[in-house]
Amino acid sequence: MKFCAPCLFGTEGLLAEELRDMDCCNVLAENGRVLFEGDTAVIARANICSRIAERIMIVAGTFRAVSFDDLFEGVKAIHWSEYLPKNACFPVKGWSLNSALHSIPDCQKIIKKAVVDSMSRDYGIRWFSEDGPIFQIRFSILKDEVTLMIDTSGDGLHKRGYRAHSNEAPIKETLAAALCKIARVREYHTLYDPFCGSGTILIEGAMIANNIMPGYRRGFVSEQWDFIKKEDWQMERTRALDGIKHGTDFHAYGSDINPAAVELSHSNATHFGVRKFITLSQKDIKDFTAESEKGTLITNPPYGERMMDMKAARELYRTMGTLFEPKRGWSYNIISPDEEFEKIYGSKARKRRKLYNGMIKCTYYSYF
Ligand SMILES: C[S@@+](CC[C@H](N)C(=O)[O-])C[C@H]1O[C@@H](n2cnc3c(N)ncnc32)[C@H](O)[C@@H]1O
Repeated sequence: MKFCAPCLFGTEGLLAEELRDMDCCNVLAENGRVLFEGDTAVIARANICSRIAERIMIVAGTFRAVSFDDLFEGVKAIHWSEYLPKNACFPVKGWSLNSALHSIPDCQKIIKKAVVDSMSRDYGIRWFSEDGPIFQIRFSILKDEVTLMIDTSGDGLHKRGYRAHSNEAPIKETLAAALCKIARVREYHTLYDPFCGSGTILIEGAMIANNIMPGYRRGFVSEQWDFIKKEDWQMERTRALDGIKHGTDFHAYGSDINPAAVELSHSNATHFGVRKFITLSQKDIKDFTAESEKGTLITNPPYGERMMDMKAARELYRTMGTLFEPKRGWSYNIISPDEEFEKIYGSKARKRRKLYNGMIKCTYYSYF
């Protein structure tokens, strides 16, 4: 079976590595997505274990289309009955870029009609009640190349289930996990985030360090599908539970100037059962102190776009530059969209990596 996992731009390589570690085959990183192959057990594994993927989708077919006829025939040629039962509910959504077919509502209507025709041909019926399990069909049309997919995740995979409420500018869980992976957070590390907001980086760091799988406690839409064995889900959840490391030396320190943010981090960490790994305090960055001999600092300070004006944000970058002393055993990793960041911080980063925080083009600066 072929799969496609969309991800944030800049995290494709990390996701490909993650999927290879899950025994997925023919893993191919493309712009904003990773293609791979595997059996139905991979659906459970990738949904439960991927920290970076936004969702996991089955690729039902790909073909070229420059007319609505091409689109209709291409979709109809797919045997949707291999995936969808007679009572499947199958809404259609998607996008098109740089292609002859650009009207999304028209594409949606044609795809829906063609799926119905394909199912009628295979099941020998004309009427579909659509009152059964959900099979969200997603299409993408890029330079006239159509990809038809079925979403196996349901809610996006960034929804781990711990963030009931968020603060003003939370970072996406998948991006926070990517920041931790790039900074190589390990079970013996001490993690710091002095602009912790709702605690996303601290929580994702604690999950990585203790090998807690991000999706083992939430549900996925494809758990209702007959062609994926219930045992596959059970086996992957048991494996996830058995794989949790106990007694690690990991600890995280988070602080934020806003007491409401500290409270939010507290409740989010408690919600996911990682509270014991995290010490929180209300603190201005200027009062930042290290609590350990070695440390990995990962932070997403205000950008001056959404939360403060740029001048104030830059003042914080300057403060960080004076506080974050280059020391053996320490790394400082800061994500910012400010192209002048290094100049204001006061030194050149050892590594830089382009990442997108939503639509905002950022650089992840690493000092070590
Ligand atoms: C972009 S948000 C961080 C979001 C966080 N990564 C999350 O996922 O929720 C920046 C945070 O910096 C905090 N902040 C602003 N000025 C600060 C200062 N001088 N010292 C410490 N924290 C500050 C804000 O309260 C806000 O929570």
